[in-house]
Amino acid sequence: MKTGNLIIEHATVVTPVGSSARKGSDMSELLTIKDACVVCTDGVIEYVGPADNLPPVDFSLFDRIDAGGKALLPGFVDSHTHLIFGGFRPDEFEWRLKGDTYMSIMQRGGGIQSTVNATRATSEDELVRRAQWFIDRMSDMGVTTVEAKSGYGLDTATEEKMLRAIRRLAEKTDQKLRIVSTFLGAHAVPKEYAGRTDEYVDLIIREMLPRFRDLTDCCDIFCEKNVFEIEESRRLLTAAKEMGYKLKLHADEIVQLGGAELAAELGALSADHLLHVSDAGVESMAKAGVVATLLPLTAFTLKEPYAPARKFIDAGGAVALATDLNPGSCFSGSIPLTIALACIYMKMSIEEVITALTLNGAAAIGLADEVGSIEVGKKADFAMLETDNINILPYYVGMNCVGTVISGGRILRQGIK
Ligand code: NIG
Ligand code: FE
Repeated sequence: MKTGNLIIEHATVVTPVGSSARKGSDMSELLTIKDACVVCTDGVIEYVGPADNLPPVDFSLFDRIDAGGKALLPGFVDSHTHLIFGGFRPDEFEWRLKGDTYMSIMQRGGGIQSTVNATRATSEDELVRRAQWFIDRMSDMGVTTVEAKSGYGLDTATEEKMLRAIRRLAEKTDQKLRIVSTFLGAHAVPKEYAGRTDEYVDLIIREMLPRFRDLTDCCDIFCEKNVFEIEESRRLLTAAKEMGYKLKLHADEIVQLGGAELAAELGALSADHLLHVSDAGVESMAKAGVVATLLPLTAFTLKEPYAPARKFIDAGGAVALATDLNPGSCFSGSIPLTIALACIYMKMSIEEVITALTLNGAAAIGLADEVGSIEVGKKADFAMLETDNINILPYYVGMNCVGTVISGGRILRQGIK
């Protein structure tokens, strides 16, 4: 079970193809291979195709799965989460039920700042222990790669503690998922810097970005009215880019600010949320090849309009879907509900949703050449459904249709035999 040597027989392989994001109408093109065999060696896919053409390998010591015709998808990539944090905020959820808004709670010193207080007071060991709980549940839903952001420290020591915790999780020998990190020091202006946003941006540029270069490859920002406005975001992200970071933005989430246009201007990997993106922002992202990472669970939880997935796809853009799991705006990591909301309310087809949760998610974190599709040379990560029919995914609303989960050729979970 530990070798990563595995043969899967009689699978219905359903996968996007390629090593970069699929755009526009290409998002709905999936390769389907019936009665396929998949051979994985040392955790990497070595062969996909008919059983009568297998490579000359001694399979006697391989793990073996008879898929019995079930649909074999690439493992899901959750490319936007905040899964490391201290404390919880159920009180805020209740305030919002009674009519409070996300931003008004944040402006009173709650919201992200409340989780910052709790995270500063939580040890690195405890952060690791708590995050593993979320990771185990993600794995059960077929997630095999996850991105985790810092951003609840907002000082150098705590941001570093978070990034170290993510690295420790990623390096655990028995870790179920591949975990990559993103530095989100610009998640909010910390209370110590209230009214001095520029000075906090200076601190990030001068102290944090150079120091964390060895801990992470990506830099993100909450580009939002009354948080980090366009000019502040441009200054920080330009500095990050010069230091070699890949860029991501929380853009146009609460109001239409122009974060999408900024993402296109700077050549970001992705701009995320985009609930209030302008038509010009959609066009510019599509043209610049910036992945639109849409997070329907957040729109659902905040009772906001869903992001215009169809506009992005119809403009020839690439859409990824992710959960945004965090203790505030979206305390859910549900892949099944993400799929249902994307199909029902964002009018994405099932094929587009599969691409968005696999190859395009991988592209949104710069990993499309390693994960996100079932192709020779890619990591042997799979989510097998309990049926041959991919329509089950949105149809069985909010329920987990994934049975067997395989990560790096290791069988983590067995479905119904
Ligand atoms: O993606 N909007 C900013 N960041 C998170 C929420 C974080 C929080 O509320 O703790 C988001 O929605
Ligand atoms: Fe987020």
